[in-house]
Amino acid sequence: MSSDLTLLGIETSCDETAAAILRRSADGTVEILSETVRSQIEEHAPYRGVVPEIAARAHADIADQIVARTLEKSGLNADDLDAIAATAGPGLIGGVMVGMMTGKAMALALDKPFIPINHLEGHALSPRLATDCPFPYLLLLVSGGHCQFLAVTGLGQYQRLGTTIDDAAGEAFDKLAKTLGIGFPGGPAVERLAKSGDASRFALPRPLMNRPGLDMSFAGLKTAAARIVEGEALDAQSQADLCASFQQAISDCLAGKTERALEVFAQDVDGPLRVVVAGGVAANQTIRSALNEVAQDAGAVLIAPPLRHCTDNAAMIALAGAERLAAGRVDADGLSFSARPRWPLDESSALADPAYGGGKRGAKA
Ligand code: KG4
Ligand code: ZN
Repeated sequence: MSSDLTLLGIETSCDETAAAILRRSADGTVEILSETVRSQIEEHAPYRGVVPEIAARAHADIADQIVARTLEKSGLNADDLDAIAATAGPGLIGGVMVGMMTGKAMALALDKPFIPINHLEGHALSPRLATDCPFPYLLLLVSGGHCQFLAVTGLGQYQRLGTTIDDAAGEAFDKLAKTLGIGFPGGPAVERLAKSGDASRFALPRPLMNRPGLDMSFAGLKTAAARIVEGEALDAQSQADLCASFQQAISDCLAGKTERALEVFAQDVDGPLRVVVAGGVAANQTIRSALNEVAQDAGAVLIAPPLRHCTDNAAMIALAGAERLAAGRVDADGLSFSARPRWPLDESSALADPAYGGGKRGAKA
């Protein structure tokens, strides 16, 4: 094997079917040779949310074509690959299984290693796709399925410092948009309306803000906004005001907790302080600028990967596979790994959490 590693990554854990081919040099330089993302937004839009069965079917219909197209765009042959990495969880299990089976079948046919990747590890490493972003850094992962702070201190070294105890922030945005009937996915629709709204019009709660610790909560905020919508007929201006007030509340919560998370994280870091924000909600300009301000005040640098690598993508999965392969941290028997609907990155913190695995659904990732 040359010191350059060329990997195919496959991502199918939610509503994006994605593949990428990436080359990582021994010095850690990364080149994305090709990437393809096919969003299922249109299939799910009539239901104003992701329907797991529809997602699995749509992945199954197209995964092999997406992989073939990505390989073709890279100008490489399948034989040029050193390994195949695919998301193995956490996520919607039907979709995860489709991606894994596609990757495993290729690995078997080509006699190459198959590397099962934790989707959250992909997000955790995503800033390293484009930026010189050495360990350690603080990661705020804020999407439709996840909302957590991780201290990323090395490959495979992720300490969860705090998490939502109920809904993810993106989920709250989606719910408000659904209640208002303004579109799916909700975050961009809420942000659009918020631009012409007055953020001080509605007094909404900032759950857990006055409590110590780094855990977050968005269910109460979501319910408070839903009550306003159900309680009165909102004209267009009032809808915009509600969106602005809601966006401001989420932004305040994320910024306030990030400020505290940086204080905790800084205690163990000697060098430059870096905070990375990833996940779909990181697209929100109000939230981005609030985080930027917090980072500056703390003497830290805010790194926000380009949007296509903030949201679900396969390049981050290929990168996680390449970093694992380069470090010799790959299970010899990847082919027998089973898809995991729940797979916390920091299993020790998750196991200590009474919510994990306790209920029917357990804690979110
Ligand atoms: O990372 P992502 O593409 O998928 C996962 O959930 O893993 O994130 C999607 C989430 C959705 O909840 C969507 O409403 C939210 O990110 N989102 C936004 C914005 N763009 C996407 N939330 C707030 N403002 C936005 N501009
Ligand atoms: Zn994700």
